[in-house]
Amino acid sequence: MILKDEPFYRQVGKEIEVFEHAIKNKLPLLLKGPTGTGKSRFVEYMAFKMSLPLYTVACHEETSATDLIGRYIIKGSETIWQDGPLTRAVREGAIIYLDEIAEARPDVIVAVHSLTDFRRTLYLDKLGEEITADDDFMFIASFNPGYQRGFKELKPSTRQRFVSVSFEYPEPKVETEIIRKESGVDQETSRKLMKIGTKIRNLTELGLTETVSTRLLVDAGKLINTGLPKRLATEVAVVEPLTDDEDTLTALKDLVNLMI
Ligand SMILES: Nc1ncnc2c1ncn2[C@@H]1O[C@H](COP(=O)(O)OP(=O)(O)O)[C@@H](O)[C@H]1O
Ligand SMILES: [Mg+2]
Repeated sequence: MILKDEPFYRQVGKEIEVFEHAIKNKLPLLLKGPTGTGKSRFVEYMAFKMSLPLYTVACHEETSATDLIGRYIIKGSETIWQDGPLTRAVREGAIIYLDEIAEARPDVIVAVHSLTDFRRTLYLDKLGEEITADDDFMFIASFNPGYQRGFKELKPSTRQRFVSVSFEYPEPKVETEIIRKESGVDQETSRKLMKIGTKIRNLTELGLTETVSTRLLVDAGKLINTGLPKRLATEVAVVEPLTDDEDTLTALKDLVNLMI
């Protein structure tokens, strides 16, 4: 995919510089951090900036090396080979973004091994062919280190192959700006949403498996911007997605009602 319009991305740390140097040095990049912190948006933005095509694969338990590399498909009376997204990116000189790489089947990690080091090669086992990556090829993966949750881990030997950047919730001013720009609500409303997010993130005693992401706050802003009452918008976009526990829901709704 090549984007026509520049996506809005607000830098949170030094990730843009790190990306530029990683690509210059042909080093693979790992984006670490909870969901909704702007990892995918960042990759889209950088692909646009660098004028590189972007192939994104959302990895899940069933994602296998074949899905990435390619397979024989039957077309009429013939079987023909079809490159997968990784093979296409390697040949064309594009960015491959493996979102949530730890969720994929273990053979994915094995298959990308030689691409993430100095060799920059990919072995197409079904064709018995080894291809070398184009100069513009870049490997990016994301990973959600859910320490307290049952999320899958990445082996240290795999992690050490990547230059790694942590994505965190942005500081108040930055998050307010993101909510405002992304949803179209006014400064005051976006500040209130930011405050609600910050407050809930600090309520560690609730034991939420995932806390409020910037994405949820942006979504609340969007609903408000199209005219849904503020309290209702915040309840459905921020509170309800976080938990199904009745007591926690009630407590969070009360909190939100006080704050917006
Ligand atoms: N730094 C940022 N700049 C611009 N938008 C952001 C940023 N961080 C989060 N967002 C907003 O949050 C949403 C979710 O971000 P996304 O990139 O999909 O998160 P992730 O890939 O980390 O789960 C985006 O669609 C965007 O509206
Ligand atoms: Mg994402």
